[in-house]
Amino acid sequence: MSSDVLLSVKDISILSEDRQCNIVDTISFDVMEGSIHSIIGPNGAGKSTLGYAIMGVYHPCSGKIFFKGKDITDLSITERAKRGITLAWQTPARFDGLSVYDYIGVGVKDKNLIEQRVREALEIVNLDPDIYIKRKVDANLSGGERKRIELASVIAMRPKLVILDEAEAGMDLIVLESFMDIFNKIKELGMTILLITHREDIGMVSDNSTLIWDGKVLANGHFRDIMVLYCQKAGLKKICNRTLFNQFDECIDKIIEEETRENKI
Ligand SMILES: Nc1ncnc2c1ncn2[C@@H]1O[C@H](COP(=O)(O)OP(=O)(O)OP(=O)(O)O)[C@@H](O)[C@H]1O
Ligand SMILES: [Mg+2]
Repeated sequence: MSSDVLLSVKDISILSEDRQCNIVDTISFDVMEGSIHSIIGPNGAGKSTLGYAIMGVYHPCSGKIFFKGKDITDLSITERAKRGITLAWQTPARFDGLSVYDYIGVGVKDKNLIEQRVREALEIVNLDPDIYIKRKVDANLSGGERKRIELASVIAMRPKLVILDEAEAGMDLIVLESFMDIFNKIKELGMTILLITHREDIGMVSDNSTLIWDGKVLANGHFRDIMVLYCQKAGLKKICNRTLFNQFDECIDKIIEEETRENKI
């Protein structure tokens, strides 16, 4: 991880279509180049909306977004993609009939490298290239295979910033671990990841985190510290105990201490 800021979100707010409320309310955070930065928070907190705003799908009514120091707030999705921002959607798109090779290879700029990049990307997401390269992207692929192929297409493209919106949704626990390996491999290839998730266990892979609640930033910082806050705020003691014990004993201790104090009162 370098000490350079790759993405800087400054006080952005996004109104809903009926302009009644701020879905995202004066949110600010920085993503360091080469890091995995998670956006965590409960369902409906505004995480996906924020991801779409960074990709340029939604435009903020106030605030600015900077990428590599340049103001990209008014740029289109295509212009942002050209600068190296890519988003893997929460529900992967299906391009029925397209071969996996073409689907993954379409984003590879150097046409001489297509086969190499497609094979390498499939290997990273743990799909055997010899089997999958000829398959079609259609309903015969399982949900997990589709997610992996979606990730492979992002890896082959080599963007500077990968926004992953609930990339792990619908995965079982064993598969989740392999997803964390995949995220680390993407990072090793020099890409920066903005990991949107409400799965606190998958956030463990991240260097830094932003906790979002009701459209607002509750805290930015190291994942460990942010988890302490999240566990306290969401009453996630059980989940913390089950998935984060040992690695997050500090977090558990704090919660237990807090609860004991409250009970005494
Ligand atoms: N266009 C819209 N108009 C009105 N409300 C919206 C609109 N888009 C999203 N919302 C609301 O904004 C809130 C944030 O939605 P968002 O999809 O960003 O949440 P999220 O944090 O990604 O949740 P999840 O973890 O369930 O994916 C939700 O309450 C949602 O219903
Ligand atoms: Mg979402």
